[in-house]
Amino acid sequence: MVIAGEGKAAVCYDCIRVLGQVVEEESPIPTKKYEPTKPLPPREIFAQLDAYVVGQDKAKKALSVAVYNHYKRIWNGHKRSGSDIELQKTNILLVGPTGCGKTLLAETLARTLDVPFAVCDATSLTESGYVGEDVENILLRLIQAADWDVHRSENGIIYIDELDKIARKEGINRSITRDVSGEGVQQELLKIIEGCVANVPPQGGRKHPHQEFLQIDTRNILFICGGAFDGLEDIVAKRLGTGSPQMGFLSETRSEEYLEGSSLTHVIPEDLLQFGFIPEMVGRLPVTVGLESLDKNSLIKVLTDPKNSIIKQYQQLFSMDGVDLEFTKGALESAAERALNHRTGARCLRYVIEDTLMDVMYDLPSLDEVVRCVVDRHSINNGMAPDLFTKEGRKVELPPHAIKKSA
Ligand SMILES: Nc1ncnc2c1ncn2[C@@H]1O[C@H](COP(=O)(O)OP(=O)(O)OP(=O)(O)O)[C@@H](O)[C@H]1O
Ligand SMILES: [Mg+2]
Repeated sequence: MVIAGEGKAAVCYDCIRVLGQVVEEESPIPTKKYEPTKPLPPREIFAQLDAYVVGQDKAKKALSVAVYNHYKRIWNGHKRSGSDIELQKTNILLVGPTGCGKTLLAETLARTLDVPFAVCDATSLTESGYVGEDVENILLRLIQAADWDVHRSENGIIYIDELDKIARKEGINRSITRDVSGEGVQQELLKIIEGCVANVPPQGGRKHPHQEFLQIDTRNILFICGGAFDGLEDIVAKRLGTGSPQMGFLSETRSEEYLEGSSLTHVIPEDLLQFGFIPEMVGRLPVTVGLESLDKNSLIKVLTDPKNSIIKQYQQLFSMDGVDLEFTKGALESAAERALNHRTGARCLRYVIEDTLMDVMYDLPSLDEVVRCVVDRHSINNGMAPDLFTKEGRKVELPPHAIKKSA
């Protein structure tokens, strides 16, 4: 059968079918209808986070509950409608020092969840029309995470990292010049966090008038924001009266009471205003969770406990060469102490371990008889070579050129 168009063109039925299939395969728009899955209970979400992130129970709990409630709204909205109570979303703000696990929490959550989840960075954003990325590109990430199913992405979760970087530069004082990567971005973010129908350029980049847009309703997207908020701790401490020694006896008793843990766990909305956020933005992030900085014991746990902990990763690497890698208790403690001195949280643990094992990783593949490698305190602190043993328990020395003089 042939279908004739206007003029001379005609196309046969088989060709139409083949073309139809090609279009369907190539098209980024899915044809299947989105079916939400039943929500995981908060305890299960918590347990999954627990397998990868050490400590930070308060943040894990807040995230588990927020994500569960988010799922539940979607699930119930899908199953029954007709109730006149509209369930609103509860966006979350995670505040904590560098290297304490904020981004890790977001990434682990992304792995756990079955809803589209996008992680993006606020540092690259600028107000529309200025050099940098438009706020809408955040939504594009989410649409990509949902395999271009816009409807599905409308129920997704977005994690905005480094939110502190878009604080107004002058804190609470209004700036005279235009603040295009600070207040300007906050104003634009506000719209999508609050809920609007946004026009997203499908190719990313900047919007321009002759482009077709994907339209996405952001009302049901859950926003989780995180940042280190350098300086916020001082603002909180000042408000609590724990920052200034001049306040005498009263401040001492208060400081013990309040500064149990990090003062970031006591953040209230006013502190965020002081830090440089506009009130509307603070209002859209009703739950603020302070994360604790990691102490020595937690850092040791970061080395050993998580499912893909740093030590487990190196043990796997060594086992590929047929070598058992061991760390003494003293070695773990020293690594944690070195990391504490760096003041970058768990961030530099990998560096400490890599630095310690560099020489041995260089030589080990050439030393066939070695089956065991023991790292102790001296290897971590003074750059001494770890102890290497053969199957019979004989000690093997590393070639001298590989041994470092001092760390
Ligand atoms: N609580 C934790 N449990 C396990 N590992 C952690 C934890 N905190 C940090 N780490 C490790 O440190 C690395 C850096 O952590 P992460 O990227 O989450 O820091 P962050 O809090 O986002 O810091 P920043 O504010 O500088 O972005 C992670 O890749 C992870 O290996
Ligand atoms: Mg981070």
